[in-house]
Amino acid sequence: MAAAVTPGAGLARLATIYREGTLGRRPVVPADFAELERRARRVSSRKAWAYVAGGAGEGRTMRRNRAAFDRWAIMPRMAAGAVERDLSVQLLGTRHTTPVLLAPVGAAALMGRDSDVAIARAAAATGTAYVFSNQGCNPMEECAAAMGDTPRWVQLYWSTDERLVDSLIQRAEAIGAGALVVTLDTTVLGWRPQDLNLGSLPFSRGLGIAQYTSDPRFRQIVTERLAAPQPGKAPVRVTPGAVRALLAMARNHPGPFWRNLRSPVPRASVETFLDIYSNPGLNWEHLATLRDRTRLPIVLKGILHPDDAGRALELGVDAIVVSNHGGRQVDNAVAALDALVAVRERVGAQPTVLFDSGIRTGADVFTALALGADAVLLGRPHLYGFALAGRRGVEDVIRNVIAELDLTMALTGAPSIAAITRDLLRRDSWQSAPHG
Ligand code: GLV
Repeated sequence: MAAAVTPGAGLARLATIYREGTLGRRPVVPADFAELERRARRVSSRKAWAYVAGGAGEGRTMRRNRAAFDRWAIMPRMAAGAVERDLSVQLLGTRHTTPVLLAPVGAAALMGRDSDVAIARAAAATGTAYVFSNQGCNPMEECAAAMGDTPRWVQLYWSTDERLVDSLIQRAEAIGAGALVVTLDTTVLGWRPQDLNLGSLPFSRGLGIAQYTSDPRFRQIVTERLAAPQPGKAPVRVTPGAVRALLAMARNHPGPFWRNLRSPVPRASVETFLDIYSNPGLNWEHLATLRDRTRLPIVLKGILHPDDAGRALELGVDAIVVSNHGGRQVDNAVAALDALVAVRERVGAQPTVLFDSGIRTGADVFTALALGADAVLLGRPHLYGFALAGRRGVEDVIRNVIAELDLTMALTGAPSIAAITRDLLRRDSWQSAPHG
């Protein structure tokens, strides 16, 4: 197994890539995000690209997430001698080798088979924590088994079925999750034109519902619904599209394909998932019950408004994630990085605040940390690495991001993550014009 990310990761990565280059080998995974994105797009299907790369509405939130990074500039410091750099951080009682975690990304199998297990292996090989997606393509137990002792957290969407919520929490506890990450911003799916224009929703093909089809409570609900057919439910019209959808459901459902094809369960599972995976009525009273339902640290993800951050912490949660879901939910929303600044100002230095939405490079990680994040989540880039080269591609993306963070620390004189402070940033002037 390849080495975990260690101190000196930056120079080691440069050495590896240049040594390979001397032997005539170029990296499969590009070192810059723009080229990574271009190549990942080339190898992805239209539906995969629409779902993974797409965002809400006109894409303004995604652009704003990136533009917010351009409004801050890093101030390199000289002769600071940060020869030894420690990238480790303490999060919720656990030492993490770096402040980068892999974000939960749903339906990753759009980009390749056995996606979440491959990503879990890459995370383990680099010593990087992975937040398992609630809309994952492999059950959390399989992903955990691929990770050894590397920290894994589990994302939770609040179902309308409270017993399903408990079941998912119990499974997270059983696999040794380091935290339960409750996502607040997807009580309904946002308006996503790229998917809508193709009429494509991965879940309706049975992709991204593996946490559910592997769940005893969910399976019980499906069985009950099949035993008591829903009144007024229209029979499926046999069209080429409907046949393709049924084939996809049978393929994506656990168990043998031919058995699934003859069974009503795959289709009923998809319909049940769509009906109950999220609770549009989610409110603070629901969240207040969490403390009594689990012994896991609780993390609330999707916070943008400082008042919501304050309210979350009043509830006694262990951490929050400032995020706008990678710009996938509300178009023309506030940039996550701007929200991070406001949230940190409100909650003070003490509470654990993670950041997600817009991280593409090691320099971005540095900027978010300097603005008060304790750690960050890396979303689309790791998926693009997976699209290009499977598990190895994810590893390369992680190593590249960490290497650049490490080199940026060397060049700004920051020997530790705690030393990455706001004085190493300046408000930028030449980039401050509005971005198109
Ligand atoms: C789900 O989390 C999504 O963003 O599609």
